[in-house]
Amino acid sequence: MTGFFDSGFGGLCILEAFMRECPGEPFVYIADNANCPYGNKSRAEIETIAGQIAEELIDRHQCRLIVVACNTATAQAIDFLRNKYPQVPFVGLEPAIKPAAQATKTGVVGVLATRGTFGGRLYRETSRKFAAGVTVLQRMADDWVELVERGVVDGPEAEAAVRTAVEPLLAAGADQLVLGCTHFPHLRPLIERVANGRAAVIDSCQAVARQARRLLECQPPKI
Ligand code: DGL
Repeated sequence: MTGFFDSGFGGLCILEAFMRECPGEPFVYIADNANCPYGNKSRAEIETIAGQIAEELIDRHQCRLIVVACNTATAQAIDFLRNKYPQVPFVGLEPAIKPAAQATKTGVVGVLATRGTFGGRLYRETSRKFAAGVTVLQRMADDWVELVERGVVDGPEAEAAVRTAVEPLLAAGADQLVLGCTHFPHLRPLIERVANGRAAVIDSCQAVARQARRLLECQPPKI
């Protein structure tokens, strides 16, 4: 059994990619709507929440692999989870800065994520390691999470929110837009429409699903 969790519907884009990579593989997905959003919670709060969910996935559902289908929970709690449950492999999410830095022609990359993701060690390290010589612009778009939770992924309200965050990045020359929150791929068609060919939109869904498949294949069969 593979376990997935997120603060809500965001991680379903990861699950969808996983179902393509590993058809027929059993899974449990916990959408923690009760605690949504994670983006503005403290590290201690997210560690507590993530710890409880991991315990449920391991003890109740016998998960042998857990995908933290949330950039914020990865940024704030994956070290804690790996220390607490060393017997279970965890796959986490981080903004796809490396492919964006490799692909940019303008030398400017825009990253959209939550406050919690930008505040994490992983994000700082990845930017330092993979984006040397590239200007990385950060844009918090926590309000998009709430839109997606309400199922508002198109129409005037969603478009206004997307334009507010994306237009300044485009105006500053970003030709790559990195979706650093698993809720954001749900807005992808709208983001692409707003970008209108001026920037490529990059997410981590398929890459994470592939990583989960690799780990599942090299795990011994369940006893
Ligand atoms: N989907 C999450 C992420 O990838 C969490 C968003 C939130 O709850 O603020 O960051």
